[in-house]
Amino acid sequence: MNWSFYDPVFAYDRGNPTLKTFSAWTGHRRFAYDLTRNLKPRTVVELGTAFGVSYFSFCQATVDSAANTRCYAVDTWLGDPHGGYYSEAIFEAVSAIARIHYPNVATLVRCFFDEALHYFPDESIDVLHIDGYHTYEAVKHDFDTWIPKLARNGVVLFHDIAERSRDFGVYRVWEGLACYPRIEFAHSHGLGVLFPKGCPPSMNALIENGETFAAHYANLAHK
Ligand SMILES: C[S@@+](CC[C@H](N)C(=O)[O-])C[C@H]1O[C@@H](n2cnc3c(N)ncnc32)[C@H](O)[C@@H]1O
Repeated sequence: MNWSFYDPVFAYDRGNPTLKTFSAWTGHRRFAYDLTRNLKPRTVVELGTAFGVSYFSFCQATVDSAANTRCYAVDTWLGDPHGGYYSEAIFEAVSAIARIHYPNVATLVRCFFDEALHYFPDESIDVLHIDGYHTYEAVKHDFDTWIPKLARNGVVLFHDIAERSRDFGVYRVWEGLACYPRIEFAHSHGLGVLFPKGCPPSMNALIENGETFAAHYANLAHK
């Protein structure tokens, strides 16, 4: 199979105790790590980083592979109505971990997503992770405004595609994108993996064996 599986150590687990290392995203970090190592992206952009669990998983894979990947985290680091609002200590903790463990990889862009658009040329992002505010309108807006930035053969990740509580609407955005090559994970609130501008050969195994991959990473969700 054209896909390598890794057994990473996440340096940020030893980070500042202020950081919550067990977020709703923790169950996907092994996949995020393997995706980054197998895809070898040049540019990763995350919309919604909070405590950094997903973001530092991309960073860890980049450091371990000695790749030239740059990983950008865009967030106000203020919080939002779904996850709640949090203190300045979180941004300070995330900044410290980025500086200590991922100095040549991590760039924190502290602003609203819309304000960050001009930092990135069109078709320049290889991995775009959308994990901000989770109403249908917010996620649809984030996808529509950022999709021009996605490179050919790039991948978009959506967290919370399985979450239907309150006014979460990621699943509705995900349903509307069924025409593109993709796989999905049901565990840990769900993760959608979408290739809306073509699928590179290195991702064929993933697309063709989606259910096998989903079962494999679900088993690793608590590691
Ligand atoms: C669900 S949390 C991100 C979780 C994170 N990916 C993880 O691994 O735990 C959502 C984050 O998005 C940020 N956010 C929501 N809407 C935003 C917007 N329009 N611009 C900037 N940040 C936003 C919030 O501040 C919050 O930190």
